[in-house]
Amino acid sequence: MTVAVLHGPNLNLLGQREPEVYGRETLAEIDERLRTLAGELGVRLETFQANGEGELIDRIQALSGRVDGFLINAGAYTHTSVALLDALVGVGRPFVEVHLSNIHSREEFRHRSLLAPRAAGIVMGFGAESYLLGLRGLALRLRRSRVAPAGPTEEV
Ligand code: DQA
Repeated sequence: MTVAVLHGPNLNLLGQREPEVYGRETLAEIDERLRTLAGELGVRLETFQANGEGELIDRIQALSGRVDGFLINAGAYTHTSVALLDALVGVGRPFVEVHLSNIHSREEFRHRSLLAPRAAGIVMGFGAESYLLGLRGLALRLRRSRVAPAGPTEEV
């Protein structure tokens, strides 16, 4: 099972960017924790960060043939990008949306996620732990969809 982790704009600044909101862990530290957890879960991981919307979309398309799902913190594109939503839906792989902060407790323009309606799940508000919880959820979801026949009686 292979999962791609996508980090959107400004997440390369984690550690120094508004630490009171996003914590003090750097992106490299978060990726390292994700790799450790992925090892425990038997998941192969690819991680990628880009500030550009097009770069993220190109990467989603390029990876889609060889990954089973996406774990994505789209940063500010969460609230603005129909194109990113279309890419994620278009490649037909489940994705889990994560946020370090609780976007609903912040400015109103952050309350809406364009990705949310099509996400397999969403984790937010737990700092770096959001990513780890999201990876667990996605791995569970992918594993179940492999073994369990889909149907109305399937337990969630
Ligand atoms: C964020 C929340 C977004 O509103 C913001 O633009 C980010 C980070 C988060 O992880 O809490 O860049 O996605």
